[in-house]
Amino acid sequence: MNHTPARQPCTSPRLRPIITAAEIERRVAELGKQICSDYAGRDDLAVIAVMRGAIFFLVDLLRQLDRPVRLDIVHAASYRGAATTGSVQMLQPVTIDIHGSDVLLVDDILDTGLTLRRVLDHLAACRPRTLRTCVLLSKAVPRQAQVTADYIGFEIADQFVVGYGLDYNDRYRHLPYIAAVE
Ligand code: IMP
Ligand code: MG
Repeated sequence: MNHTPARQPCTSPRLRPIITAAEIERRVAELGKQICSDYAGRDDLAVIAVMRGAIFFLVDLLRQLDRPVRLDIVHAASYRGAATTGSVQMLQPVTIDIHGSDVLLVDDILDTGLTLRRVLDHLAACRPRTLRTCVLLSKAVPRQAQVTADYIGFEIADQFVVGYGLDYNDRYRHLPYIAAVE
């Protein structure tokens, strides 16, 4: 099925696909292999995802992890439309015990870094054994907070993107590919 929107109502932004569903699938499988190999021999890996943008990535990545994991979600929000507000709210904190665990934080995109920094600080306070980050996308912009992702699906240019969980004003999350909003 061709998911590319052929026509947009004139009030909708134009979407330009930049990463196909097949490319995402291939890359997520590679990341899954890499993560399994890096955590081989470790028996308590907790995967914690940031809602809501990481939903698609989380589910597909988990299916590639051929090992036991524990799972939790946290909910953080900073964006209003296409402009960051600069302040990040933790709407839902972690609920599983991660003290002494290997923790892998999963998010959709690393942009200013403010969201991941906020969530990483929140998780670090629970004293995990290790704390790493995995993002599907990393935007080529100057970070406003000190964060480097340990696993990155794709590096992208400085543009606003939607699809595969990422939204623009709560729309377009359902697209199975990533598109730039023009
Ligand atoms: P940061 O705090 O600026 O790094 O942004 C992280 C969060 O902002 C992500 O988890 C997304 O929810 C959202 N975000 C950043 N860039 C985009 C984008 O291009 N499209 C959709 N959401 C984005
Ligand atoms: Mg997000």
